[in-house]
Amino acid sequence: MLELNDKEMAEFQAIIYRISGMRINETKKVLLSSRILRRLRATGIATFGEYLKLVQSVAGRVELDAMIDAVTTNETFFFRHDNHFAWMETYLKDLSSQVMQGKRPKKLHIWSAACSTGEEPYSIAMMLLENRLILNGWELKIFATDICSTVLETARKGRYQGRTLEQIPLKKLKRYFKDSAEAGFLEVKPEVVEMVEFSKHNLMQVMIPPRQFDLVFLRNVLIYFDKDSKAKVLDRIGANMASDGYLVMGVAEDILGCSKGLRRIQPWLYQKEAG
Ligand SMILES: C[S@@+](CC[C@H](N)C(=O)[O-])C[C@H]1O[C@@H](n2cnc3c(N)ncnc32)[C@H](O)[C@@H]1O
Repeated sequence: MLELNDKEMAEFQAIIYRISGMRINETKKVLLSSRILRRLRATGIATFGEYLKLVQSVAGRVELDAMIDAVTTNETFFFRHDNHFAWMETYLKDLSSQVMQGKRPKKLHIWSAACSTGEEPYSIAMMLLENRLILNGWELKIFATDICSTVLETARKGRYQGRTLEQIPLKKLKRYFKDSAEAGFLEVKPEVVEMVEFSKHNLMQVMIPPRQFDLVFLRNVLIYFDKDSKAKVLDRIGANMASDGYLVMGVAEDILGCSKGLRRIQPWLYQKEAG
């Protein structure tokens, strides 16, 4: 297999880091070579050098996006980290009692910020539907974003098969999925799909217009980022959180020293500090 030389590797690493915040280290050279090789084949370009010229040119903007798509890791599955969903159950009850005491409006805006193929926001939507009695009459929104266009296409279809479905409790599987016209696939029911708005967004960029999310899921993405990019992303996330908003991270994500303005509640749970 054609493999990147050290200079090409360094140039690709720099471009990927600048655009997405992801640090691809030297040990990933074979993997990166094979993913970029796919783009060479798709574009009919013969060498990594020529391909580098293309993605660095103005005319190569679209291909640069395709390259970022090709190098992202999109592993995800329904109800990943089930303790986060158990916490969400308690959180919803707590919000509902605050509403009953007149301490907050009937509003819950959630952001799945690196949603990959959609399993995370759809799991969140199912949690809201499970709690529909206490959320009756609420303004509920789930905004789901990713840098990668191809995963968003899959997410919008809501059609899945295999391992990603394994952790869905049987009751939810029966209630929120139906057989797909495509053999071997299950489809998320329209009532769930309709609750989620998917959009392309790069976490390194400012969100326009800014939002006030009550709850943000930012799970299993910052593991690919260095300290500088983590701080930048968390800054951008904080700017889009309501004053008492919560941030849910993956289970083993170290954001020590990058989480200005966020109070740690659990190793994976933070709350925006007042002021
Ligand atoms: C491993 S998946 C995590 C999916 C889901 N949050 C979960 O925990 O199962 C990481 C996702 O982060 C996305 N990603 C990487 N860099 C990003 C960036 N700068 N902005 C937005 N999304 C990004 C990738 O495209 C990928 O879909």
